[in-house]
Parts: sequence; C-alpha cells; structure tokens
Amino acid sequence: MLSKKMQDALNNQLNEEMYSSYLYLSIAAHFEEQNMKGFANWFKIQSHEEYGHALKFYGFIVQTGGVVKLKQIGAPKASWKSVMEAFKDTLAHEKKITGLIHKLVDLAMQSKDYATNNFLQWFVTEQVEEEATVEEILHKLEMIGDNKGGLYMLDRELGARGAGA
Ligand SMILES: [Fe+2]
Ligand SMILES: [Fe+2]
Repeated sequence: MLSKKMQDALNNQLNEEMYSSYLYLSIAAHFEEQNMKGFANWFKIQSHEEYGHALKFYGFIVQTGGVVKLKQIGAPKASWKSVMEAFKDTLAHEKKITGLIHKLVDLAMQSKDYATNNFLQWFVTEQVEEEATVEEILHKLEMIGDNKGGLYMLDRELGARGAGA
C-alpha cells in the first residue's frame, strides 16, 4: 500500500515522464521541419519511450492500490539553433530526471517502502543508459563540428534506430 506522500511523488514523476515525451516530440517536430529525418526519427522513438516510462508509473500506482492523478503538461521549447543544442538540452534534461529518480529512491528508502524502491531500480539503470547514449551522440557531434557531410552521416545513422532500440 502506497503512502499518500509516495503516491504524490510517483504521480509527479508520471507527469515528468509525460513532459519528457512531449519535449522529445517537440525536438522531433523541429527536425522534421529542418528536413533532418534521421534526427526526427531518433527523437520520435525517444518520445515514445518516455511515454512508456509514464505508463510504468501509471501501472505501478494502480497495482499498489494508489490513485493516478494526471496533471497539466507544460509546453516545451519549440526550436533549436543547432543539432548540438538539441542534444545538449536532452542531456541536461536527462540529468535532471536522474536527480528526480534519485530523490524518489531516497524517499522510498526513508519510508522503508521496499516495493517502490525495487520498482524504481529499473529507472536508476535506465537513466545510466540514457545519459551514456546521449553523451555518445554529443561526442560524435563534437568530432563532426561544422562538417555538413558528417552531420548527414549521423542523421542517416540515427534514422536507422528502430522502435525498441
Ligand atoms: Fe524517462
Ligand atoms: Fe529519458
């Protein structure tokens, strides 16, 4: 059984994951507009994954007898000056999410809520992977610099990302 405090915190995180989904869909739409279909594809899949994260919180709250409370989702930024800026924003956002997940773990541990703590461990691992993936892309972008051919190649590479990858 979830405590009221834990339930509120999990509902907050559900909202953060929905916002993440919205943010990445906004970046995808920006790249569609720029005709960079590969980057758009990568962010669309990323957006879909974040929606999946929101559903995991939804499922856990329901399963533990809690009440799901959906809140307003804020409007994300709509344009980026460069591919680099979009991925820098993505890394900063993921780091923020990692911090929020860690705070949730702190709360679960303080409340001796073992079930929630166990549920959250999946997200602890997921955040390590998410940050590493984005760092790797940023590293490639640094090597590419102003080279249009390099950017074209990376767009093609990220265009090959399939759902679930
Ligand atoms: Fe997420
Ligand atoms: Fe994420």
